[in-house]
Amino acid sequence: MDSPTDQQLANWLDIATEAALAGGAILQRYWGKLDTIAEKGRPGDLVTAADRESETAVLEVLQRHCPDHSILAEESGRHGLATAAYLWAVDPLDGTTNFAHQYPFFSVSIGLVHQGVPILGVVYDPHHRDVFRAAAGRGATCNWQPIRVSTTDSLAQSLLVTGFAYDRRETADNNYNEFCHLTHLTQGVRRGGSASMDLAYVAWGRLDGYWERGLSPWDIAAGIVLVREAGGQVTAYDQQPLDLGSGRLLATNGRLHGALSAALLEVKAGVAAGRQVFGGDRVS
Ligand code: IPD
Ligand code: CA
Ligand code: CA
Repeated sequence: MDSPTDQQLANWLDIATEAALAGGAILQRYWGKLDTIAEKGRPGDLVTAADRESETAVLEVLQRHCPDHSILAEESGRHGLATAAYLWAVDPLDGTTNFAHQYPFFSVSIGLVHQGVPILGVVYDPHHRDVFRAAAGRGATCNWQPIRVSTTDSLAQSLLVTGFAYDRRETADNNYNEFCHLTHLTQGVRRGGSASMDLAYVAWGRLDGYWERGLSPWDIAAGIVLVREAGGQVTAYDQQPLDLGSGRLLATNGRLHGALSAALLEVKAGVAAGRQVFGGDRVS
């Protein structure tokens, strides 16, 4: 199938921006005014009227402008033909837990995927009014100004971010060992609570690297394009090409990629051998 033209990418970037701003306006309206916060199934996996209404607003814009594209949206699932060449991955509120607690770190995240590869993304932080945009070969911007990843080249000088999926109480593969190990090796590991914003901040150079498991395409499709277009690298933990459906990714400024990958694999090997690995001190 043909690659999109530059003109198509520019057009879709503006459509995604219009959709993200529409969703963001809903979130601003609900900020601090949520009546009901429901759990979707797993403890802590929340949904609110803000998520649902934001999604409706985003989908209205995407479907009006791109009737031939399909959509995968967190709250309402799949829309359009499965055979469509392009798939929008939509998270109408990425960081619902933050939003529900009025912790101002959340976004509307809209990515466009072609043949399994994210090619365009918009992440909108309505609280700080930051619009992050990127498309393949066109660079990444924040509020229409070019952004670049950081130049930090050692883990010891880095600030990283990660997260813990909603199934963390049900699996031993819950990222706790990795979190402890990297906390020892770096200047710190943040837990942002919004995967798309974590990726946007890596693209912006405010954070040096990010890893997480248990993610969905709508959490990461847009942010992956931001990091790559800002000069960073996004792969599987072992530096193999990313499988968007795997739910697991490593994103860095590029300079830290090998070291962070090695640290994650060291934890995996330690756990497989029945040891926990914390910053070089092995605790059995
Ligand atoms: C969540 C956030 C969080 C990540 C979770 C996601 P939601 O999305 O991105 O940072 O750790 O895995 O599910 O539920 O707030 O849209
Ligand atoms: Ca999400
Ligand atoms: Ca969400």
